[in-house]
Amino acid sequence: MATASKSRSAAQRQYEPYLEAVWGLSNHWYPAAFSHEVPDRVVTGVMICGHEIALRRARGKVYALADRCAHRGVRISKKSMCLTDEHLTCWYHGFTYGLEDGVLKTILASPDDAQIGRLRIRTYPVEEHNGIIYVFVGDPDYRPIPPLASDLPIRITDDPNPVGHPLDEQVYVRGIRRTCVGNWRLGMENGFDSGHFLIHYDTQFIVATDRALALGWQTTGPDAIRTIDEPDGPKGLMSMFKSGQFRIIRESAPLGIKVYGKNRHYARTSIYLPCVVMVENWPINGWAQYEWQVPIDDYRHEYWEVLVGPGATEEQIKEADFKYANFFEPLGLWNFNDPDVFARAALQEPYGVSEGWEREQLCAFDGALISWRKLVSRHHRGIVERPRWAGPPAG
Ligand code: FES
Ligand code: FE
Repeated sequence: MATASKSRSAAQRQYEPYLEAVWGLSNHWYPAAFSHEVPDRVVTGVMICGHEIALRRARGKVYALADRCAHRGVRISKKSMCLTDEHLTCWYHGFTYGLEDGVLKTILASPDDAQIGRLRIRTYPVEEHNGIIYVFVGDPDYRPIPPLASDLPIRITDDPNPVGHPLDEQVYVRGIRRTCVGNWRLGMENGFDSGHFLIHYDTQFIVATDRALALGWQTTGPDAIRTIDEPDGPKGLMSMFKSGQFRIIRESAPLGIKVYGKNRHYARTSIYLPCVVMVENWPINGWAQYEWQVPIDDYRHEYWEVLVGPGATEEQIKEADFKYANFFEPLGLWNFNDPDVFARAALQEPYGVSEGWEREQLCAFDGALISWRKLVSRHHRGIVERPRWAGPPAG
């Protein structure tokens, strides 16, 4: 790493912590699983920032414990063994840990063993809201644990009709998640990239809705991007399209290409630590799309695409179910976002080795990405260290 640091420009050194955050940011809340993926008596294994985590629900409450048995190190989630509502039992030899504290409570075939009460696997704070289970990942002794809302997009915007938030009551929340090749930072930058709309130009979503998706935009004034820096609250950047300080590109004369559709549509993008992008008024007005790029390891991220919309009445839920099944998920989440998944994997080739970050030659519209890199460098609560089991870095 010393050689790579030396070759960085002065500009790059302003966001050095971001460049070091290959495995993610520690001491933040991350979505770990949808609620329906953790039914009673099923142990679900996930990996977040290199942390292997077992999720188990008992009496309605979800617990998160280290997913490596202290005995011989197998992943406990490889086979669900839920014998009581207080314990997580390893399927191999029956080492049994308390769900609340991770302490070894008993061993199936060695009930008087000296290890009982002495060994412990770590536990993680958990919150569950509107169908999503969040886990706080970081240093075991980090205190105080910040509120979940500090790691989510801001709740209320200055729009007259603010869209739903994953923590609000009576909202409809539904989505998908998929494992993608590409470091989490490449996913984040792709989500907030104002020059990448070429990849969406010919998607069925755009053609079917006849939507005038701009070819890109650039900022032209200091108020174009608002910094969100609430005390003890979310840290992010928001594109203020209504500020008039944007140059919207709708046509490229040299390339003979212009915006496809006729329907102009106002949507607004913002980006927050640790790893979430919010697109308000997407896929349609009154809805919001939340996209998390949760670090898995150094070359993959879990891409969460979650839609939040009106869900206060039975009628709204019925309407949302219908739209979700027949429009939002197939066209909005899969079809429109598939090119993003393709692009992130392609970015991993140059950026998967450290030189990729040194060699990039950015242009005017990439300024927003630099602002994001600096924001992370300023506000992260820690950088995840490369796990020992991962071996030496590539490149
Ligand atoms: Fe888990 Fe032996 S490896 S009990
Ligand atoms: Fe995109």
